[in-house]
Amino acid sequence: MKGVVLAGGLGKRLEPLTRITNKHLLPVYDRPMIYYPLQTLVEAGISQILIVTGGANAGDFLRLLGNGEEFGLKHLDYTYQRGEGGIADALRLAEHFAAGEPIVVILGDNVVERSIRSYVQRFTAAGKGAKILLKEVDDPSRFGVAELRGDRIIGIEEKPRQPKSPYAVTGIYLYDAKVFDVIRTLTPSGRGELEITDVNNAYIARGEMTYDILDGWWTDAGLPETLYRAASLVRERALQQEGIGVSIREAVTNR
Ligand code: DAU
Repeated sequence: MKGVVLAGGLGKRLEPLTRITNKHLLPVYDRPMIYYPLQTLVEAGISQILIVTGGANAGDFLRLLGNGEEFGLKHLDYTYQRGEGGIADALRLAEHFAAGEPIVVILGDNVVERSIRSYVQRFTAAGKGAKILLKEVDDPSRFGVAELRGDRIIGIEEKPRQPKSPYAVTGIYLYDAKVFDVIRTLTPSGRGELEITDVNNAYIARGEMTYDILDGWWTDAGLPETLYRAASLVRERALQQEGIGVSIREAVTNR
């Protein structure tokens, strides 16, 4: 299983923060945004990782991350997306890297609380098709929204006015190697992008899509409000862990 972090796009919804840098290099509490999805993949046991980036500051990713030594990696792959053709357009660039293997894809502005290792393992055991991770949210209209029937997913609508469920499709996707054939069949949406929701609906139509409900909190960080939220959630987690660390240290020294 290989991993792909999608960090292209222009981050226009964060202007003027993104006027002179890439959205995924902005701080989320004490780390640049891209650290979080990268760490999520590494923690899930993925060691071959491709970063898809774009825009005028693509070189900064290399200076920041190098070969991923800070994450315990030996090597990182990079590729460049021209323009802002959509999430599926960015993913298309991973075909050469994937080289026929299944992939776990994470959006560069998605931050999760907990490990995704168990979902990756379950997908690997299934051996084919695709899996998405859903999360119940208060504002589903901002996301791809799943329509569920029993334990099946029967469709996804991208940013619907009237959502058919409270379940957002998070930016973590697991695909077999056929995903690149699916992308080749896509045409640009109304907003001129190749949509990841169209990829997922194609897998649903073939009966090859499964889903899990993501454990722990999840947020994107692509709007001023969610960038702020991501920073507070990460901060709270860090303080909790520090608290646990302190109480363990205290328990050990008081013994
Ligand atoms: O966060 C989850 C949501 O992400 C899903 O629920 C939606 O179905 C999905 O379409 C997406 O919605 P957004 O409107 O939030 O996507 P956005 O355009 O903000 O892009 C999210 C990330 O995808 C961005 O941080 C980097 C990557 N991306 C995006 C575009 C448009 C690229 O790498 N290249 C691109 O051209």
